[in-house]
Amino acid sequence: IYFLVLQKSCSFALLKQTMIVVNKISELREALKSLNAENKVVGFVPTMGALHQGHAALVRQSVKENEISVVSIFVNPTQFNNKEDLRLYPKTPQADLDLLRDIGVDIAFMPEVEEMYPEPDTREFDFGNLDKVMEGKYRPGHFNGVAQIVSKLFVFVEPNRAYFGEKDFQQLAIIRQMVKQLSMPIEIVGVPIVREDSGLAMSSRNERLSSQERKTAANIYKTLCESKNLYPQSKPGEIINQVVDTINKIDGLSVEYFEIADGNTLQSVSEWSDSEYVVGCITIFCGEVRLIDNIKYK
Ligand code: PAJ
Repeated sequence: IYFLVLQKSCSFALLKQTMIVVNKISELREALKSLNAENKVVGFVPTMGALHQGHAALVRQSVKENEISVVSIFVNPTQFNNKEDLRLYPKTPQADLDLLRDIGVDIAFMPEVEEMYPEPDTREFDFGNLDKVMEGKYRPGHFNGVAQIVSKLFVFVEPNRAYFGEKDFQQLAIIRQMVKQLSMPIEIVGVPIVREDSGLAMSSRNERLSSQERKTAANIYKTLCESKNLYPQSKPGEIINQVVDTINKIDGLSVEYFEIADGNTLQSVSEWSDSEYVVGCITIFCGEVRLIDNIKYK
């Protein structure tokens, strides 16, 4: 019996080892072919690595819902408008691969910049209002870079489903719009925000916070939750002022913007009756680190 158990756990361990790791697009295509991906349901999770439990939730859902799951790890230079942010972006490739292997991912794609951009990508996307507001306003060109890389990845992986976190709420809305514009037959799946015990939304950037800053940053979600108690008796504009004042009074936090908007069009709402689906999206500097979060009002 002992031998059988040992044999079983060994073969299980072997099974878990079978994630294919590739760096080249041609290798990715071969790997997909070797798994007969064309005739299977493929799930895809694009990431920039430094993976945490927020990413893991997307990956687990993909593994659960699809026959094959592909994850990309690529820090995309075209979506960084701040060179320092790009330079400081954390990289933990070994731990990332271990995590993906443990979850049961089939293919990890980790290309170099030259592989994804053999030529500069000069494509200009226009998502109407979606990329003009909030992050689009404060990080010009950011979503164009996101659309450039995600559209390339979609062409290479040809997934049936792709998973995006609701933490990057605007990104999710833009990707939904992008697949419509490009007529890509891909179902975009939104995954709820994964939070630390303190309520702070998990993010690779949290690693850059000191332990004191981490505690301070927990006030972001706390304030958003408290603002829900003001709904619907206070108007959106009143809630905005209240949230911005409360957070700016906390030492070490400074609000860049807080907007209350329609969850599909991202048009700001002045009356709750303007929309059926209303979210509040916030960006805050905690020291040098820029954090984002959001909350659904209705
Ligand atoms: P990255 O920041 O690595 O995030 C990859 C995916 O994980 C995104 O869809 C993001 O919304 C999701 N995610 C991150 N933290 C999360 C959390 N706490 N809860 C739920 N989901 C979370 O977003 C990007 O990379 C890039 O822009 C990318 C789409 C890969 C294009 O380069």
